[in-house]
Amino acid sequence: MRRIVIAGNWKMHKTQAESLEFLQSFLPQLENTAEDREVILCAPYTALGVMSKNLHGTRVRIGSQNVHWEESGAFTGEIAPSMLTEIGVTYAVVGHSERRQYFGETDETVNFRARAAQKAELTPILCVGESKEQRDAGQTETVIKEQLKADLVGVDLSQLVIAYEPIWAIGTGDTCEAEEANRVIGMIRSELSSSDVPIQYGGSVKPANIDEIMAQPEIDGALVGGASLDPVGFARIVNYEAT
Ligand code: PGA
Repeated sequence: MRRIVIAGNWKMHKTQAESLEFLQSFLPQLENTAEDREVILCAPYTALGVMSKNLHGTRVRIGSQNVHWEESGAFTGEIAPSMLTEIGVTYAVVGHSERRQYFGETDETVNFRARAAQKAELTPILCVGESKEQRDAGQTETVIKEQLKADLVGVDLSQLVIAYEPIWAIGTGDTCEAEEANRVIGMIRSELSSSDVPIQYGGSVKPANIDEIMAQPEIDGALVGGASLDPVGFARIVNYEAT
C-alpha cells in the first residue's frame, strides 16, 4: 500500500538545544494531523539522541541524513547503521544530491548505503533527480532511470521511500511545477516492479505550494529542506489541505 510520508531534512542546521526548541513548538501542532500521514525529521547526527528521547511515544519518526555500509572500521567521519538504530533512528536519507555533488557519492556507494540500511532495518529514503543541464538537454528520464537501476540493485522495494528531487529546484525557491513533478514521479513508479513504494517530491517545498503538490495523484509526500527548519511552517506542510 502506498502511504503518505512527509520528511524534514534539516541538513547542517540545529544544535541539540535548537532541536528541542523546535519540538516544543512543533509537536502540539500535530494534534489534529490526519492519522495516515507519516512524519519524519532527519536531524544532524549530534541531535538524533536527544530527539529520540523527546519523540518517544509520539508519531514523529527519526531519520539520519546518511549511513555507511560497514558496521565498523576505519571510516573517519562516517556513521554505522547500528549506531543509528541503537538510538531509535528508523529512516536514513541516501544519495541526497548534496552528497553526490559535494562529497563524491556515486550510484555504487548510494546502493551500498541503501542495502546496509535495510539490513539494519532502517528504511532508506533514496534521492534521485536531474541537474539543470541534464534537464535542458532533455535527459531527465534517462538520468533518473539510470540512477534507479544502479541505486536499487539488491534493494527490497517493500522497505523503501524514494524522493524525486530535481537538483535545480533544491534550495533555489524554484519549485518544479506540480504537474511536471507528478509526471516524473509517475515515470519513476512505472520503472519499479512494485507500485507500493511511496515516492516524494523534494525541492523548494513550502507552506504556499504543499497543497498543490499533494493534490497530484502520483505524489505521496515531500522531502522538505529549508522550510522544515521552522516549526510553524513545517507543521503547515504536514497539515496540508487535502483536496
Ligand atoms: P529545499 O531542500 O526544500 O531547501 O529545496 C530539499 C532537499 O534538499 O531535500
